[in-house]
Amino acid sequence: MVSRADFPKDFVWGASTASYQIEGAYDIDGRGLSIWDAFSAEPGRVKNGDTGNVACDHYHRYAEDVALMKAANFGAYRFSVSWSRVLPEGRGKPNEAGLDFYDRLTDELLRNGVAPWLCLYHWDLPLALHKAGLGWTSREIVPLFADYAGLLAKRLGDRVRHWATFNEPNMFTMLGYGAGVHAPGIRDREAWLDAVHHVNLSHGAAVRRLRADLPAGAQIGTVPNLQPVRPATDTDADRAAAANMDAAMNRATADPVFLGKYDPITHEWMGSRIKPGDEAAMHAPLDWLGLNHYSPQYSSARANAFGFRSANPPEGAETTLMGWHVAPEAFREMLIETSQRYGLPVYVTENGMADDVEPDAGGRVNDAARVSYLDRYLGAVVEARKAGADVRGYLVWSMTDNFEWAMGYGPRFGIVHIDYKSLKRTPKASYRFLAELAGATAKA
Ligand code: FCB
Repeated sequence: MVSRADFPKDFVWGASTASYQIEGAYDIDGRGLSIWDAFSAEPGRVKNGDTGNVACDHYHRYAEDVALMKAANFGAYRFSVSWSRVLPEGRGKPNEAGLDFYDRLTDELLRNGVAPWLCLYHWDLPLALHKAGLGWTSREIVPLFADYAGLLAKRLGDRVRHWATFNEPNMFTMLGYGAGVHAPGIRDREAWLDAVHHVNLSHGAAVRRLRADLPAGAQIGTVPNLQPVRPATDTDADRAAAANMDAAMNRATADPVFLGKYDPITHEWMGSRIKPGDEAAMHAPLDWLGLNHYSPQYSSARANAFGFRSANPPEGAETTLMGWHVAPEAFREMLIETSQRYGLPVYVTENGMADDVEPDAGGRVNDAARVSYLDRYLGAVVEARKAGADVRGYLVWSMTDNFEWAMGYGPRFGIVHIDYKSLKRTPKASYRFLAELAGATAKA
């Protein structure tokens, strides 16, 4: 098992969440709707008809959640801001009550010795922008996203030091605009490429705005999801499909923002979308990279619009409830490659697994499989560091069980169990495991 001594003293320990997945309070205090409110209200879109209307009610129970972070000895908490809570129309007049919530959350974190890591966008685009044709498929969103970044920088920049622009731009563009299985439910290759290009431009514009509006010393980064892509079979066709999938899922939203240029495959796909100066505009110096990683991906050939399709892990592979392959060596490989390729300090900003362990008769949640997963994946962090990867922290996904997008409340990713009827929080065995690693003495 990994132990505290395997990590440097200043290693950052913490947890991540996202606004729509935990906050609830979807229609109070002036919050505008997001594309996820609309999507989850459409029959058949989300399993069991689940919605984020209440979720974990973090909006009202944030102090209890922060107390749990403190008791876990966590030094950092990555959360995202609901854009439509602070700008109900996505632009124009800010909502004071919404901004107040993030003020209170920030202050509560700081009072408890937990550093706020603020992510601007974790998938909940204001519905008003989407309806006005100003969503990610429109280039006009670029200055609007920068304005939103500036609003938060001015409001919270005196207290929030760590900022991220996007959470997993590869995932929400592909799932929401390419495959149509996430909000806003568009299934179109061209819309996907439009969204990718505009997200990359929005990133660059937002970083420049943050630099201008934040105090010196602000730590600005972004959060890609990077996973090695393996061909399902050792054939030329599957190898070509894997190269396409690697371009779509790993390179398209990372290379431009970290390196200032599209990889050759994506460049060809983008065609005339790339205007003179675009690639330079996507690229702005960053201070850190947040790596989200769960498992390797498998790809096989199919003559579809994307030139690849997802395949299952090999027969007999250990998988989680999500069907994701448990492969810590792929994580080690990704950490080393990411550190070398992009040359930034790496913080793991998401990693974890779904399981469905409920409290036992004594009220304890013994999620032994998650403890084993975390132990092995943290072992990969230790090995990657030994191999020279500059990995400086680990924020688990997720602090509490929450709304897992199109899968609803089924898959439980939390280190704290949520009873969705009573909203009672129960720390799991994995919580105690991480608390012990994070602190000299576990207080949990
Ligand atoms: C990531 C998302 C996060 C959560 C985990 C399980 O792709 O960023 O919101 O859904 O997967």
